[in-house]
Amino acid sequence: MLNPDEIKALENEHESGVYGKIDIVLVRGEGARLWDADGKMYIDCMSGHGVANIGHANPAVTQAIAQQAQQLITCHSALYNEQRALLMQKLAQIAPPGLDRFFFCNSGAEAVEGALKFARLATGRTKIIATMRGFHGRTFGALSATWNKEYRQLFEPLVPGFEFVPYNKLERMEKAVDDETAAVIVEVVQGEGGVNPGDGDYLRGVQALCQERGALFIADEVQTGFGRTGKMFACEHHDLRPDLMTVAKSIAGGVPMGAILIGPRVGELPPRVHNNTFGANPLCCAAAVAAIDFMLENNLPQRSAELGVRMIDGLKAIESPLIREVRGLGLMIAVELKQSSAPYLAELAEKGVLALTAGRNVMRFLPPLVIEEEDVNTVVEKVAEVLPAD
Ligand SMILES: Cc1ncc(COP(=O)(O)O)c(C=O)c1O
Repeated sequence: MLNPDEIKALENEHESGVYGKIDIVLVRGEGARLWDADGKMYIDCMSGHGVANIGHANPAVTQAIAQQAQQLITCHSALYNEQRALLMQKLAQIAPPGLDRFFFCNSGAEAVEGALKFARLATGRTKIIATMRGFHGRTFGALSATWNKEYRQLFEPLVPGFEFVPYNKLERMEKAVDDETAAVIVEVVQGEGGVNPGDGDYLRGVQALCQERGALFIADEVQTGFGRTGKMFACEHHDLRPDLMTVAKSIAGGVPMGAILIGPRVGELPPRVHNNTFGANPLCCAAAVAAIDFMLENNLPQRSAELGVRMIDGLKAIESPLIREVRGLGLMIAVELKQSSAPYLAELAEKGVLALTAGRNVMRFLPPLVIEEEDVNTVVEKVAEVLPAD
């Protein structure tokens, strides 16, 4: 077995270099807790970047994976499979009304790529409107809809036809959507861009504009989906009925999977216009069925809503001149500081809490939705300890 120093040395030697590494070797997780190679315990508010909604090593999913692995791991979508059929049935039951056809893939960016292609295909138009501070992934199409210059500039020229407008400003969207617009893509709560909740009137207004002007409304729920914001999908907060919805991250309990949920305005998609080798393999589908069942049986969206309120209230009660704002929805929470959050996140990790950034100044908390109340309280206490009181 490798010791922690050997593990770090090997990763440092062979890693591509694109990841800023945190000096922790994780070996085990259970629920909302993680352990490193020295046996130190952490409360996880990263969830593998929003993946572990049902908690680490969830027995329902580990059993489903083990059982399916012994039966059949791969089965291309050109053939039929029971686990895929069951997943489709389940997704159709929990999705916003009308989204009852699915394309499965392996990640959020792939789901966004496919949704953008389907929108162009369905409308015969090319223009895509995205929002400032929006994040949709790092592949060329998804990156073209992603706002952050730092992510984009080195790789230009990107896909043509993308335009950005300010988030939560309907009048700017009204000017941008026209009869050449294939789609508008938005996050219901912007994640990477700082945890910025979308306003209900704005989002419903964007949807109405799309319907009026023949464009498709794409909701990117890669980060917000599956209970994260206190509803199964964030669209439910505002009664949204997107034409296309992208999901990934937590859909299959940690096994890589993404999906495009397709509504009636997309119309028929002809054979062979899109494809995916691994998408919807029985292993991922079995994991997703088990994960979604667990979310429903344990009412995780409700738990996320309740614990989210508790955590936001706790964080708001912290008195520190460094805090600009505490905001969020469910267990998707940001503490925006007046300066870089990096040193405070490092100190939090020292104290046994792992959290994320979301832009330079934000501490972002995405704990597993199974987190115990006691651990929520500890997280709030530790944040109070690392932020200066005067
Ligand atoms: C809203 C949103 N869309 C798309 C993506 C890209 O997902 P992936 O990293 O699985 O490609 C992310 C990832 O953070 C995301 O938050």
